[in-house]
Amino acid sequence: MFPLKKGKTTQQAHVGLPQGTYEEEHGRKGFYGKSAHLYHTHPPTDWIRFEGKLRPHLFDLNKLEPTDRQNAGGEPATFLGNNDVLVSVSRRSRPMPFYFRNSDGDELYFVHRGRGVIETDFGPLNYEKGDYIVLPRSVTYRVVPEIDDNFFLIIQSKAEFNQPERGLLGQHALYDPAAVTVPEPDPLSADDAFDNRDEWEVRIRCEGEYSKVFYPFNPLDVVGWKGDLTAWKINLRDIRPVMSHRAHLPPSAHTTFVTEGAVVCSFVPRPLEQDADALKVPFFHRNTDYDEFIFYHDGDFFSKDNIEPGYATLHPRGIHHGPHPKALANQGKKTHTDEYAVMLDGLNPIHVLPAGEQAEWADYWASWGAGARGKERRKAETVP
Ligand SMILES: [Fe+2]
Repeated sequence: MFPLKKGKTTQQAHVGLPQGTYEEEHGRKGFYGKSAHLYHTHPPTDWIRFEGKLRPHLFDLNKLEPTDRQNAGGEPATFLGNNDVLVSVSRRSRPMPFYFRNSDGDELYFVHRGRGVIETDFGPLNYEKGDYIVLPRSVTYRVVPEIDDNFFLIIQSKAEFNQPERGLLGQHALYDPAAVTVPEPDPLSADDAFDNRDEWEVRIRCEGEYSKVFYPFNPLDVVGWKGDLTAWKINLRDIRPVMSHRAHLPPSAHTTFVTEGAVVCSFVPRPLEQDADALKVPFFHRNTDYDEFIFYHDGDFFSKDNIEPGYATLHPRGIHHGPHPKALANQGKKTHTDEYAVMLDGLNPIHVLPAGEQAEWADYWASWGAGARGKERRKAETVP
């Protein structure tokens, strides 16, 4: 019975769209499930106004002021979240004067800017721009910046972050597991006292509340470790994206981590599709089963206008998103993308928290040009 096909369509998705149509993918389970392609005569983002809570969001995360920026004892600012994941920004400028242990979830640090070391039970991990660092739940760690200007995007998940299944692509696709860095044991002694202390604080977060435990010795005293649980890291430069020169692949092809209730994908520079008929920008879609958060890290964000590094968007389920009109019109002129971005797709609705509201650009919903341009076009359409 399936797939059904009615009216004007393409033979294959994202290729050779009927003249004057805009393709929308109405899909389930991210991009893994059942789907329909709808061929519209107007871009589905050409709305003129919204009522109610659902709308696309844009945040300038450079405007967030986490308390850890000025105060070494401070903490990151959490600006989005749900029961599965919390998303925060840390601007830590000075070393933590304590060890930290998050018993509320596993953490994925993405280093937008900065340089330094994260000391962990398993040993130290140096960090630099573009690193993803996985810190499993309840690992004890301390962030020790070497420079003042650090910017971390932190995703906390109730479940573990794992590598994606590579399936047909083979085990070396996306990134070779051998490109992962794991720490070497490097026990710290009393001589490694920071701030000339004679007791060491471990600050533990549990159910959002902090408890502190103190030791008369440096608790990062591990001389060896074994097993299949550890802190680890991979850098964006080690991500080797897959693509098809003949058809636009969905974001799920760029999955870097999977956790319960969310996936994390990385968009890195790649050639655009070469086939003359192939769509070269993301297709319109109305996420039906996921809310989609994207953090813009670096480069030229081709499919969206007026996006700067450190900005982020949140597109909730139920309403459309897709390329801005300029990107759609210019897709034939580009040969490659030059963007670095981190996407978090959440299975349950992701809520904007008060810190996020303060960093939000309220008119983002109108950025597809629907307001003025839409009105003009409708006027032109009704004028005989
Ligand atoms: Fe999307």
